[in-house]
Amino acid sequence: MRKKFAVFASGNGSNLQAIIDAVKSGQIKADLALVFSDKQKAYALERARTAGIPILYLDIKAYADKQSFERDIVMKLKGYKIDFIVLAGYMKLFTEYFIHEYPNKILNVHPSMLPLYKGMESIKEAFAGKAKSTGVTVHFVDEKMDHGPIILQEAVPIETNDTLEILEAKVHAVEHKIYPHVIALFAEDKIRLKNGKVEIEE
Ligand code: GRF
Repeated sequence: MRKKFAVFASGNGSNLQAIIDAVKSGQIKADLALVFSDKQKAYALERARTAGIPILYLDIKAYADKQSFERDIVMKLKGYKIDFIVLAGYMKLFTEYFIHEYPNKILNVHPSMLPLYKGMESIKEAFAGKAKSTGVTVHFVDEKMDHGPIILQEAVPIETNDTLEILEAKVHAVEHKIYPHVIALFAEDKIRLKNGKVEIEE
């Protein structure tokens, strides 16, 4: 059966856009049923509106604690019958409660070859550190930041002529290519996690 998924985004949403396009083109055979943001002004919400996708914005400050915020999100996700969650520039960590509600059903994309360069400045750090290459990782999400079983990685060489802006564009282009690919496989049950090991059926 065709699955339903939600994208969580806090910012620009260029990955969300690549996902919207991949659903439209039929590459991802699942329904993008909801875009959630914790930031009212996230451009990602604008992209969702333009694409006619239902949006949900909740402000954590309106809740007593993170778990009550997450409980409200889960209630809404259940209302939309969401099967899996795709993080695309979502800037909050989850509590154990949320992870256990969607076990092995939350994906994330990160602009480095994890475990290298965790955090928000990954591309900058690789560039400033004069690394020979960096890359992109798609992984399952757990409670820790940029952590969890790795599904797919692709390296991005850093050329001597690259500026930070050029490198950022190269890394994002790889994200926009491999993330929809992984989501497409996941939506068709071609990615499985067995004893902490990822198996991909291409
Ligand atoms: C991407 O680089 C993604 O890997 C990271 O946050 C950034 C989000 O960019 N997790 P965008 O909002 O998808 O344009």
